[in-house]
Amino acid sequence: MTDTADSRPPLVVVFGGRSEIGLEVATRLAPGAVVLLAARRSNELATEVSAVRAAGAVAVQVREFDADDLGSHGPLVDSIVADHGPVDTAVLAFGILGDQALAEKDPAHAAAIVHTDFVAQVSLLTVLAATMRGAGAGAIVAFTSVAGVRVRRANYVYGSAKAGLDGFCSGLADALHGSGVHLLVVRPGFVIGRMTEGMAPAPLSSTPGQVADATVRALRKGRARVWVPAPLAVLAAAFRMTPRFVWRRLPR
Ligand SMILES: NC(=O)c1ccc[n+]([C@@H]2O[C@H](COP(=O)([O-])OP(=O)(O)OC[C@H]3O[C@@H](n4cnc5c(N)ncnc54)[C@H](OP(=O)(O)O)[C@@H]3O)[C@@H](O)[C@H]2O)c1
Repeated sequence: MTDTADSRPPLVVVFGGRSEIGLEVATRLAPGAVVLLAARRSNELATEVSAVRAAGAVAVQVREFDADDLGSHGPLVDSIVADHGPVDTAVLAFGILGDQALAEKDPAHAAAIVHTDFVAQVSLLTVLAATMRGAGAGAIVAFTSVAGVRVRRANYVYGSAKAGLDGFCSGLADALHGSGVHLLVVRPGFVIGRMTEGMAPAPLSSTPGQVADATVRALRKGRARVWVPAPLAVLAAAFRMTPRFVWRRLPR
C-alpha cells in the first residue's frame, strides 16, 4: 500500500472487525497503514488488534459498531473521518448465515438475516459512498456470495440477501464511475471457517486467507469484481442454466 497524497498513512476500516475474512484482509493491508476495527464488543478485540499490529500496522484503533443500528452508520463514519482523516479503504466484512430452517417458520428471523446482510449493508455502503465521493477518493470492499448468483432452496433467505446486495453493488459501482471512488465486489463460494462450522465443504471451497489474497490482489488491480476461487465464475454460469426441476432438488 502506498502513502496517501498528503503523506499520512492510509486508513483502512474493517466493519465487522472480528470477521475471519475481514481480519485476513486487514493483516494484508496493515503494513504502513492505520487500521481501524469496528465491531460489536469492541472491548474484546485484543487478539485481533495484536494480529493486525504484528502484521505491520502503524496504529490499530477499535470502534463500537452494530451494523443493525442503521442510525449509527452516518455518525460513526463522520467521527472516524473527524479523528483520522478520509477513509482510504473500507471493508464491509460483517454478516450472518442465520438459521434457514428457523427462518422458514419465523418471520422475525428471516427479516433479521435480510436486515444484517442486505439492509445494513445498503445503509453503510450509501454512507461510505457519499463520504468518499465528497473526498474524491477511496475504495470499498463488499462481500456477496455464490449463494446470491441463483438463489437455492436450501438457503434462500441468506441467498436472497446476497442477491440483493450484489445487484445494489452493481448499480452503485456504475454510479461511482468517474468519482474517484472504487467499489470491489468479492464473490466467494463456500469458505471453510467460523461461519460454515459443522458443514461439509462444497466443491471449490476456499479459506479466509485465500479470499483475502484474492481480495487484496483485486483491490490493487482496481478490479470491479472477483470470484474466489476464479473457476467459480464458470460454475456460476452453469448454475444459471440449470433447469428449475433439477435446481429445486439440490440438497444444499
Ligand atoms: N464464510 C463463508 O462461507 C462466506 C461465503 C461467502 C461470503 N461470505 C461473506 O463474507 C463476509 C465475511 O464473512 P466471514 O466468513 O468472515 O464470517 P465471520 O467470521 O462469521 O464474520 C462475520 C462477522 O460479522 C459480524 N457481525 C454479524 N452481525 C453483525 C452486526 N449486527 N454488527 C456488527 N457485526 C456483525 C460478526 O460479529 P460478532 O463477532 O460480533 O458476532 C462476525 O465477526 C460476510 O459478509 C459473509 O456473508 C462468507
